[in-house]
Amino acid sequence: MRELFDPVAKGLAGVLIDLGLDDVEPKSIVGGATDRSHGDIAIPFHKFAGVLRRPPAEIAEEVAGKLSPYLDKIAYVSSKSGFVNVTATPKWLSSRLVEFCDHPSFGVKADSLRKVVVDYSSPNIAKEMHVGHLRSTVIGDSLVRILEAKGNKVIRENHIGDWGTPFGMLIERLEDLDSSGIDPDEAMSDLGQFYRDARAQFDGDENFRARARARVVSLQTGDEPTLRRWGQLVDISMSHFQEVYVLLNVLLTEDDVMGESKYDHLLPDVVERLQKKGLLESNDGASVIYPGDWLNRDGDPLPLIIKKRDGGYNYATSDLACIIDRVERLQAEDLVYVVGAEQKQHFEMVFASARKSGLIDSRHTTSHVPFGLVLGPGGGKLKSRSGGVVKLLDLLNEAIDRASASVKDRNPDITQEELGRLSRSIGIGAVKYSDLKSDRTKDYVFDWEKMLSFEGETGPYLQYAHARISSILRNDKFQQSKSGLTSFSLAHESEMRLAREILKYPESVDQAAEDLAPHRICKQLHRLSQAFAAFYENCPVLVEDDNTRNERLALCRIAGGILNHGLNLLGIDAPDRM
Ligand code: ARG
Repeated sequence: MRELFDPVAKGLAGVLIDLGLDDVEPKSIVGGATDRSHGDIAIPFHKFAGVLRRPPAEIAEEVAGKLSPYLDKIAYVSSKSGFVNVTATPKWLSSRLVEFCDHPSFGVKADSLRKVVVDYSSPNIAKEMHVGHLRSTVIGDSLVRILEAKGNKVIRENHIGDWGTPFGMLIERLEDLDSSGIDPDEAMSDLGQFYRDARAQFDGDENFRARARARVVSLQTGDEPTLRRWGQLVDISMSHFQEVYVLLNVLLTEDDVMGESKYDHLLPDVVERLQKKGLLESNDGASVIYPGDWLNRDGDPLPLIIKKRDGGYNYATSDLACIIDRVERLQAEDLVYVVGAEQKQHFEMVFASARKSGLIDSRHTTSHVPFGLVLGPGGGKLKSRSGGVVKLLDLLNEAIDRASASVKDRNPDITQEELGRLSRSIGIGAVKYSDLKSDRTKDYVFDWEKMLSFEGETGPYLQYAHARISSILRNDKFQQSKSGLTSFSLAHESEMRLAREILKYPESVDQAAEDLAPHRICKQLHRLSQAFAAFYENCPVLVEDDNTRNERLALCRIAGGILNHGLNLLGIDAPDRM
């Protein structure tokens, strides 16, 4: 509908000058109406009452009268309670819909040509992937798809935690288990347990601790047998993560892995560059940078530690090295990090340090894309049935099992193969949608019943709307007019509502890309599905009358196409039958 904003703003320019509001930028006051009954656009005049010394209702009435002739044939103009309301005419809606009939991406324009790195998923080697990593994976994957649809060149990076001091104890633990005859795959079959056992041994056994420390040195100096063991830890863990990625059907592949170890060689370079800029200070034996106004608990300036007293480097150093690599080797312009909200300060300080030291400049943008927690039904942290941490693989398999039960209920005659495919699409789609549908910065409650319901704001509800449209199109025995419709009459109120929700789709994608917020698309697809349900109830599609049938079929085709396109941007399957 934003196409309506331009002519309205243009018309408004002259009217505002007439009124004596020369310095008001018309675009700044034109916005979408929040209530459907107020038309498509609402322009408030309350804040000008003071300067003009006139009641808002009177100003709005005058503006409406003067604006109306400008928008002849495009929109109706009225005023109420100090607002000017603009409502598109069926003729205008029709001409826009005609464009949508043949547009392969339903008005979504690939007009943003940036080079973007999206850092997402990023679990830690030899540790269980947790629900925070699930959120990062699902949100990050959707952002990659959205940014690509907008025309950007997107590079996916899975910044796994595969380097640092814990690897000393992990390697020693694996070494011990292997020499007592336990196969490494077996030893690491439960990553959470493996990590906890290694930690316990490290805390309780002095001899083990000494070996672990020596191992860190061997790792850092490139000792071959140590590197081999380390490689084993990485490979076995990655195969666990890969199982989750395959079930989730995300774009991430092994080629996208860029773990912390890959930046190890750049760490001395980070120190050198900061030093050259005169930004490195010594603090209690450590080398630090003060990137800005951050304070510690005592109110003293908070530094970012670049090199520890013992000569080791930090998570932050690795992230600065990572920025050098992304900007200089990959030539990235926008750096996006999909990581939990608890790392907010880390990223703020890293970004500020990178700017201060000139690693990035005005050509680059940095975005930390934080997200909230996943809560259990009682509102506390999500836990497994036995009270421990939730294993992602178990969680996803449960989603599929639950979906399978409901698919079988609905289609008793379904083949085993189709059942498998559909349960997966629906179960995984439900988990993803429930994660994506709200503002990502909010916590959300993981609720099986709700997310798998075919009613309400759920994945299955959208998938079902799409499948129903596919079924109508399959049952069109006339099979005509794939496109070529030159106008829509939109005679019924429900057709008009559906048309409006169709036309709002591309701006929801633009908003999602701009705010890095997939829920904008979720909301629009949900409104579209609701409008479709009302249309389907009130407007029979496969009727005898050619004109009516063709027009309604075309509306179905566009609505179904948008659901397919939008679900794909969310990383959710859109099956043709359900
Ligand atoms: N491995 C980290 C964790 O699990 C996330 C890494 C995020 N990416 C980054 N460039 N720091 O918390």
